[in-house]
Amino acid sequence: MAVKSTNITPVEHRIAKRDRWAVNRHRGGVIWFTGLSGSGKTTLAFALEQTLFAQRYNAYVLDGDNVRHGLSADLGFSPLERAENIRRIGEVAALFADAGVIVLTAFISPYHADRRRARDACGDAFHEIFLSADLDTCEGRDPRGLYSRARRGEIPEFTGISAPYEIPEDPELIVDTGRHTISDCLEQLVAYTERAFGFESLAIGKSE
Ligand code: ADX
Repeated sequence: MAVKSTNITPVEHRIAKRDRWAVNRHRGGVIWFTGLSGSGKTTLAFALEQTLFAQRYNAYVLDGDNVRHGLSADLGFSPLERAENIRRIGEVAALFADAGVIVLTAFISPYHADRRRARDACGDAFHEIFLSADLDTCEGRDPRGLYSRARRGEIPEFTGISAPYEIPEDPELIVDTGRHTISDCLEQLVAYTERAFGFESLAIGKSE
């Protein structure tokens, strides 16, 4: 991306991160779901949002299909356009996280470099969760018929068929949505989120 913003001076917030966390009684951060289309990103992100909300966590889903109707409506699926899509989401997620929210992002995000950039935008509070259902499983599900259309050549550059998916090398968590039920996967995710963001994990007295 060509940087065109010049003569810019960043301004400090006057509320400390930890004060926001103390009010929310949890940390802010990003749970970054990645996986093939049909691997369960949207289903699990929204289920996790509901569960966390019921437990008084401030959680919010950014979902690929929704974001591509608005913020990324000008982008297609070439590697460069996907990179820009993920760059925007990474920056937005980092802002939400800074505001104290637990952001749940549901994007295929097939390229290492793009996920890396999203992680760099957010820092320590970034948790990459790989939903590891394989292509056969996802194609077998094909809830919206996209795989069969891609196989017929009607959707170009479709991830897994005619565009690559680079498997995460070192994600914080792998959830095998091909082998476990939705409720089992959700249970793993809730336990992970409570450990990573819960109030108990706030080491009192540590400045941040
Ligand atoms: S990403 O690669 O840039 O992360 P994103 O998650 O935003 O993708 O969008 C994926 C969604 O767009 C899929 O769930 C599917 O509904 C739709 N889609 C349309 N065309 C494609 C394509 N060529 N490859 C993958 N998904 C596509």
